[in-house]
Amino acid sequence: MKKRVILAYSGGLDTSIIVRWLTQKGYEVITYTADVGQGEELSTIPQKAKSAGAVDAIVEDLKETFARDYCLPTLRALALYEGKYPLSAALSRPLIAQRLVHYAHELGADFVAHGSTGKGNDQVRFELSVWALDPDIEVLAPVREWEFSSREEQVDYAKRFNIPVQATKEKPYSIDRNLWGVSIECGPLEDPSLEPPSDAYQITKDPSEAPDEPRYVSVRFEEGVPVSLDGERFSEVHKLIQKLNDIGAQHGVGRIDMVENRLVGIKSREIYEAPGALILYEAYRDLLSLVLDRFTFHYFLTHVPHEYAKLVYEGLWFTPLREALDAFTNTLAKLATGEVKLKLYKGSVTVVGRSSPNSLYVEELATYSEKDAFDQIAGKYFTKIWGLPLKVLGRVRKKEGKNV
Ligand code: ARG
Repeated sequence: MKKRVILAYSGGLDTSIIVRWLTQKGYEVITYTADVGQGEELSTIPQKAKSAGAVDAIVEDLKETFARDYCLPTLRALALYEGKYPLSAALSRPLIAQRLVHYAHELGADFVAHGSTGKGNDQVRFELSVWALDPDIEVLAPVREWEFSSREEQVDYAKRFNIPVQATKEKPYSIDRNLWGVSIECGPLEDPSLEPPSDAYQITKDPSEAPDEPRYVSVRFEEGVPVSLDGERFSEVHKLIQKLNDIGAQHGVGRIDMVENRLVGIKSREIYEAPGALILYEAYRDLLSLVLDRFTFHYFLTHVPHEYAKLVYEGLWFTPLREALDAFTNTLAKLATGEVKLKLYKGSVTVVGRSSPNSLYVEELATYSEKDAFDQIAGKYFTKIWGLPLKVLGRVRKKEGKNV
């Protein structure tokens, strides 16, 4: 019996070559393609996969699953890798891996395969996710070990087997796109001292060409789930995110340019576009600042965003750590009901208003007007006690002549 493999398939040149290469090595290849909001026509995928040699091709719409079960938990953790990257590509890998394992079981395959290179993070994410779900499945990564030493050799191979190679001038970028954002690397971006050429950005308008009028947008959350935009309710989260992507992109919002630390030890210059995600991050952070007490908010900010981002980036989605952090952020999310108003203007996103039935803001305490209900004498004694350690320290230093 032939060895059966489920291959994560994008429909592009690389994964099409993989179909043929695996077939030649004696595997029976079934391709798997998920719609995670990459904005590409997927109806031609089965035909492409089969003409490259696949015996069958599975295409699935996972946009809502991706939005609800992957993007929203990451939003609720306010997770940004190295403080900047909202993890779009990193988040889709565990979901795709989970579906590969599902179909491997259903179709009796002992192998799954992906098209990631040996230099990137995606290989780690795919393989750790597969192993966490079924350690007996073997993962194949042809790109890491095949014989092609140049792009030309791959193109020759593709032509030999009638795999269509786009005739247009080859795009210099490597692009990964989904609902949560676009990541762009390679080509002219590899010199981190140079500004990205304008054709590098895929979905956002150059901020200098964005409308002169700001766009206000109001996002309503119910228990940590964004449910409406400008009063219009969305029953599917992915549609709301898509709408925010469109609005944000129009205003040049969501561009990120960074040098990041990959898992394999390389520093890499990458650019990202994530208008919807970044608008939601600003909004959600602000809502939490309104509804959480100081102790809980500070604990959350210190302990969760960085740790959550690292675990997603490092391929640790299917761990008790992620589940435990989700339990933490879901507890906070129960309070996160309310409305946040934001202003989008030539690349910037600014929160300009917020309200919530769970708001802890007390105007009588905050105000400097005659409505003031704060006991200012209490401030005197509070400051005295809070500052006591510094008074003691100051005395000692003064005695030693070290004060000024
Ligand atoms: N550097 C980003 C990450 O590791 C983006 C990776 C995008 N993947 C790709 N094959 N282009 O999450």
